[in-house]
Amino acid sequence: MGMKRVYTGFLCLLTVLILSSRVRLCDGGISSNYVRKYNSNVDMPLNSDVFRVPPGYNAPQQVYITQGDHEGKGVIVSWTTPDEPGSNSVLYWAENSNVKSSAEGFVVSYRYYNYTSGYIHHCTIKDLEFDTKYYYEVGLENTTRKFWFVTPPKPGPDVPYTFGLIGDLGQTYDSNNTLTHYELNPLKGQAMLFVGDLSYADNYPFHNNIRWDTWGRFIERSAAYQPWIWTAGNHELDFVPEIGESKPFVPYKHRFSTPYRVSDSTSPLWYSIKRASAYIIVMSSYSAFGTYTPQWKWLKNELPKVNRSETPWLIILMHCPMYSSYVHHYMEGETMRVMYEPWFVNYKVDVVFAGHVHAYERSERVSNVAYNIINRKCSPVRDESAPVYITIGDGGNQEGLATEMTQPQPRYSAYREASFGHGILDIKNRTHAYFGWHRNDDGYAVEADSLWLFNRYWKLDEPSASHVMR
Ligand SMILES: [Fe+2]
Repeated sequence: MGMKRVYTGFLCLLTVLILSSRVRLCDGGISSNYVRKYNSNVDMPLNSDVFRVPPGYNAPQQVYITQGDHEGKGVIVSWTTPDEPGSNSVLYWAENSNVKSSAEGFVVSYRYYNYTSGYIHHCTIKDLEFDTKYYYEVGLENTTRKFWFVTPPKPGPDVPYTFGLIGDLGQTYDSNNTLTHYELNPLKGQAMLFVGDLSYADNYPFHNNIRWDTWGRFIERSAAYQPWIWTAGNHELDFVPEIGESKPFVPYKHRFSTPYRVSDSTSPLWYSIKRASAYIIVMSSYSAFGTYTPQWKWLKNELPKVNRSETPWLIILMHCPMYSSYVHHYMEGETMRVMYEPWFVNYKVDVVFAGHVHAYERSERVSNVAYNIINRKCSPVRDESAPVYITIGDGGNQEGLATEMTQPQPRYSAYREASFGHGILDIKNRTHAYFGWHRNDDGYAVEADSLWLFNRYWKLDEPSASHVMR
C-alpha cells in the first residue's frame, strides 16, 4: 500500500510538473535555446585588410551609394579623398553604352574634437534609366576607381525586389562575418535597409573618428555596389558637450547623404523613398518626435501620400524597437510606440524594422492602442491591421549580444534569439513577401527564422500563418 501511495504521489507530481512547464511554454512564442560560439567582441585592428587604404595618391576611399531621388532613378555617390579635395565629379555610363556622362557634386569636411576629416564628396546622379546596370568612376588622373550599380525597376505593385537588413553593425570580426554572410547568401539582396548604429566609433576615447573612416572602408565592398538606405541610431549622436561637441549627429550628417528633400522632409534623419513595390519610411528615434515637432508633422503628411496601389509594401525603419522583450533597452521605444502605433495600425504598415537591441526578435501582428487611461485595456492584442515588428540589431558590434530576455516570453513575441545575423526581405508581388533571418553560425543558405508576409493592404481578409498567436 505504502509503495502504491508513493507511486501515485510521484505520478501526480510528474503531471503537475509537465502541466506547469506547458503553461509556461504557452506564454509566448519561441525563445531559441541555440548555443552559439564564443565571440570576443573586439574591433578588427586598424591594419586589417578589410580597412585597407586604396593605393595611389589621394585615391577615393569609403565609396558608398544610396538612393538619390524618390522613385529610384537617382543615386547619391559619396566618397572621401584623404589628401586634397580633388574632383567632385562622377563619371557614369550604362553597361551597354559608350556614352559617358558626368555629374557634379560637392565636398565637405568637418572637425570633431582633435580630428579633422578627409574631403567627403557627395554627388547626386539623376534621371537614370530604371532596371539598368551602370558603371561609375570617381577620382582623378591615375587614381580613379570604378564601381557599378543596378537601378531598381520602375515602382509598381507586382515588381519583385529583395532587400537586405542589417543593424548595429560595428567593425568587429563578427561584423565582418555578418557582411560576408549577407554577400554570400544565395538570396541576393539588391539594396540594404540599414537600421542604425553604424561604426561604434563613439566607444573610443573622444569618439575617435578614425574608426568612422575604417568603417567606411569596411562596408565599401557592399555599399559601393548597392544602395544602403540609412537610418540614424544612438551611436550616430556623437553628442559630447564636455569636449565641445554639443551638436548631435555631426560625423553622421557629414558622411552620409539621404534624399530627404524629395519627400519634403526638412531633415536628413527622416525621409521616404519608393523602391520597386516598396514604400520605405525612415524615422529618427533620437530626434524630437512629439506632437507638433518637425518629424511628427512630416509623418502626419507623409502617410496619407502612400499610394498602396503603386507601392503596396509599406515598410518603416527606425533604430529603437517599439516592441522588444529583451531586458537590455527594455521599454526604450515606448514613447515612440505611444505616439505612432495608432498611425501604423491605421495605415496598415506591413513591417517595422528596428535595431538597437543586439539580438533578433519577431513579433506577432499585435497592437496596443485601445488604452485610454481609465479602461485598463493596456495589453497588446492580436490585430490584423498591425505590422510585424522585427528587431534585427544583431550585426555584430563590439558591445556583444543582448542575451537576457524577459520571462516569460510575452504573447506578442513570436521568435527571439540572441545571435548575430542579417535579414532578407524578398518581395514576390503585391500580396506575398518572404522574410528570412540568417544566423551567422549557420551556413550561408540556412535560415534560423522565416515567415511569409501577407500584404496588409491587399490581403487583409485572408488568413495568414503570421497571425497565429500561441
Ligand atoms: Fe542603438
